[in-house]
Amino acid sequence: MSSDNLVYFLGAGAMAEAMIKGLLEQQVLPREQITATDIRPGRCLEIAEKYGIATECQATAERLAQATIVILAFKPKDLASALATYRAYLHEDQLVISLLAGMPTQQIGQYLPEQTPVVRAMPNTAASVGLAATAICAGQHAKPEHLALAETLFAAMGIVQQVAEPMMDAVTGLSGSGPAYVYLLAEAMLAGGMAAGLDGSTARALTEQTLLGAARMLQVSDHTPAELRQQVSSPGGTTIAGLQALTEHHFTEAVQDAILRATERSRDLARAATFGTN
Ligand SMILES: NC(=O)c1ccc[n+]([C@@H]2O[C@H](COP(=O)([O-])OP(=O)(O)OC[C@H]3O[C@@H](n4cnc5c(N)ncnc54)[C@H](OP(=O)(O)O)[C@@H]3O)[C@@H](O)[C@H]2O)c1
Repeated sequence: MSSDNLVYFLGAGAMAEAMIKGLLEQQVLPREQITATDIRPGRCLEIAEKYGIATECQATAERLAQATIVILAFKPKDLASALATYRAYLHEDQLVISLLAGMPTQQIGQYLPEQTPVVRAMPNTAASVGLAATAICAGQHAKPEHLALAETLFAAMGIVQQVAEPMMDAVTGLSGSGPAYVYLLAEAMLAGGMAAGLDGSTARALTEQTLLGAARMLQVSDHTPAELRQQVSSPGGTTIAGLQALTEHHFTEAVQDAILRATERSRDLARAATFGTN
């Protein structure tokens, strides 16, 4: 990214940290071009020490005015109070990228100086290892060049898909929340391996590599997930016996339901934001 870009994180929690780590490790930006603030001074110190970036306490966020890209990385419930604090440092020449789950860009625009371009993004925490799945959409006043800038930023930390804003709730349900579903699967595989007699470290190593290998196969193969599954499920074999147990426990329906429920929760957050009940 160009040396003109100064990125400023408002909120330095889990998602901001994943992005800061990804930006530095993937050499998208040098540390001098990244600043963060957080309501908790201790968190500012921790992030500054860990990544060598500048942090400012909330009351004196002066570098914010010089930022070219401002990333909203606090929780949706903190939108009004946070932007009341920072609005004085914000202006329409900055690109605001919102990570806030379920928060429509129109709602965010109400707390920003008029004409400020807003791009909404839904990354996931795999940004910290350069493997995020991010969806972005243009919000109020965002021009193609703003979307392109956001795409460059997130493409350096994984893959980026452009979607229409109404699809952002589904993205949140699938890839925003998705890492947690996979961690739960990993927990279950680990426990299953140990119940079958393996020691913990062997079960963990085999679980990790199995997930990694299957994900890579999905990525590089021309086959659909269903075809890949059928290829390894010979009749009367071991895999088909395992799959049968998953079917008996309604595995497919459970995963689909998880995505639909997380999508609905994102829609609830959007409704609450619109009607001021969050
Ligand atoms: N985590 C994910 O996987 C993920 C994925 C996609 C999108 N997101 C979105 O990313 C955003 C951040 O999520 P997160 O998981 O990183 O949350 P988090 O870990 O709770 O981080 C948010 C941080 O912002 C701080 N904060 C609150 N008000 C603030 C203010 N006025 N100024 C500065 N900092 C303030 C919080 O402090 P306190 O804790 O004291 O309130 C906290 O340290 C959310 O909007 C979420 O929807 C998260």
